[in-house]
Order: sequence, then C-alpha cells, then structure tokens
Amino acid sequence: MRQRLALTAAASAITVALLFLPPSPTMPLPPASFAGKRALVFGGTSGIGRGIALKLGEHGASVTVIGRDAARGEEVVRALRAFNPGGAHAFAPCDAFLLREVATTAAAAAAPPLDVLVLSQGMATLQGFTPTVEGLDEKLALHYWGRVAATRALLPALRRAPSPVVLSVLSGGVHSPFAGWRDNFELSQGYSIPNAANAAGFYNDLAAEAQAKEAGNEKVLFLHAAPGFVNTRCGPPPPPFPSAPRNRPAHRNNT
Ligand SMILES: NC(=O)c1ccc[n+]([C@@H]2O[C@H](COP(=O)([O-])OP(=O)(O)OC[C@H]3O[C@@H](n4cnc5c(N)ncnc54)[C@H](OP(=O)(O)O)[C@@H]3O)[C@@H](O)[C@H]2O)c1
Repeated sequence: MRQRLALTAAASAITVALLFLPPSPTMPLPPASFAGKRALVFGGTSGIGRGIALKLGEHGASVTVIGRDAARGEEVVRALRAFNPGGAHAFAPCDAFLLREVATTAAAAAAPPLDVLVLSQGMATLQGFTPTVEGLDEKLALHYWGRVAATRALLPALRRAPSPVVLSVLSGGVHSPFAGWRDNFELSQGYSIPNAANAAGFYNDLAAEAQAKEAGNEKVLFLHAAPGFVNTRCGPPPPPFPSAPRNRPAHRNNT
C-alpha cells in the first residue's frame, strides 16, 4: 500500500513538473526535402496537426489542411503560402465524426499520388457514449473509424507515391490493450474515458500493423505516434504563471 502511494505520488509529481516546464525550443530537424510531395493533414487546422502541416510546407510539400473550422484552415493555408508560394495548398472542410464525409473528402483528394497522410483529428472531452448520426461514438469515430476510412480511401493514391507515409497522432505505446474488444468493439456498453482512450489507441495499433502487412502496401510506412503533453486546444492548459519569453516563429504556436 505504502509503495503504491509512493509510486502514485512520484507519478503525480512528474506529471505536474512536465506541465509546468516551459516548452523546449523546437528541435532542429535533419535536412529533409518534401519538395514536389503532396500531403493531406486531417486535424491540420489546430495544434499538432497544424504544426505538422506547417513543417511539411516549410520543407517544400503541397499541403491540404482538413478540418471543420474554415477560418483557422485558411489561416494555415496563408502561412503555408508564405513558406512555399509555389505549392498547391488548400483547405478542405470535413466533419470527421461522419465516415461518409471522410470518404467524400478523401475521394476528392485521391487522384494524384499522395506522399504523406497525417491523421491528427482529435478531441478531449469527458462525454460518455455520444452517437453520431451514423450511430458510432463521436470519440471513436474521430480517433479510429474515420482514420481507417481515410486511409482505406487514400491507399490507392499512397501506393502510387515512391515512399508514402501514414502518420496517426494519438497514443502509440502509451495506452493499454482494450480488454473488451471481442464483445464490445464499438464501446456501446461500459463506456468510460479510459476505455475510450484504450480502445482507440489499441485499435490504431492493430490497424497500423494489419495495413502494414497487407499485400500492396509494402512501400507504405504506417506510424502511430504519441505526442505526450502538448499545450493545444485539446492538450493540457498552460502553467498559471508566465513563462520566460521565447523566441520562436509565430507558426510554432500550438493553437
Ligand atoms: N495535446 C496533447 O497533449 C495530446 C496528448 C496526447 C494525444 N494527443 C492527440 O493528438 C491529436 C491532435 O491533438 P491536438 O492536441 O493537436 O488537438 P487540437 O489542437 O484540439 O486539434 C484537434 C484537431 O482535430 C480537428 N477535429 C476535431 N474534431 C473534428 C471533427 N469532428 N472533424 C474534423 N476535424 C476535427 C480540429 O479541427 P476543427 O476544429 O477545424 O474541426 C483540429 O484541427 C489528437 O488525436 C489527440 O488525441 C494530444
């Protein structure tokens, strides 16, 4: 019992310390060239997806930013044009709660070869099972079903690229397996925040592995990343006291 308390206290102290640390300066990336490459970023209107979209643009890619908020999407497109005026950047509206919208958006982008597909659409709420009009839970639809739907629709375009990448930004390596997958795959019973998080993370792992092994996908790299704590609209709040001024370009803000 004592040991458990000590472990819990240590874990809480580390979490609080991480939350209060000022963000480290952006890590310099090794020279990478995405010149002439095409990228689609679901969740590119905010946070981590926005940061990835801008980084891809900075390295020469043509980027389509996908989300619901047109004002934020167009702002990202303007920033992309500043980096790479020759690129074909665009905003594509999509409500990724709905698989039919994901399929339509993906189909509209599926003709030319696709080099990078980023799946960073996400939400952090305390809501219980909340069905979309298609009957799926909103959180699972966003974090799992819609990601698979987008990937499936875009696989033909990905296969036509020389070294395609599919990056799902969620919780690779930091969730538990969801024990109820056999009888309760859609989480229609026993819904809880940990179950929803574990199910989405677990299913993303399995989907990445299964799709990586699928015939025809030999060239496609499937990644499932866990970003850790990032101060975004859906991430943890900033510390309550001002941190030291940082010299970083505006596009590296997380919101
Ligand atoms: N931040 C963290 O600390 C943290 C930690 C672990 C994992 N993650 C994961 O990282 C991913 C990105 O999170 P973030 O921190 O960057 O969050 P964020 O700043 O809130 O961005 C979420 C993105 O998802 C999009 N989105 C949300 N609901 C949508 C919907 N119904 N249809 C289409 N797009 C939708 C939003 O676009 P619109 O609002 O324009 O629709 C936005 O672009 C998420 O999967 C999250 O679970 C984040």
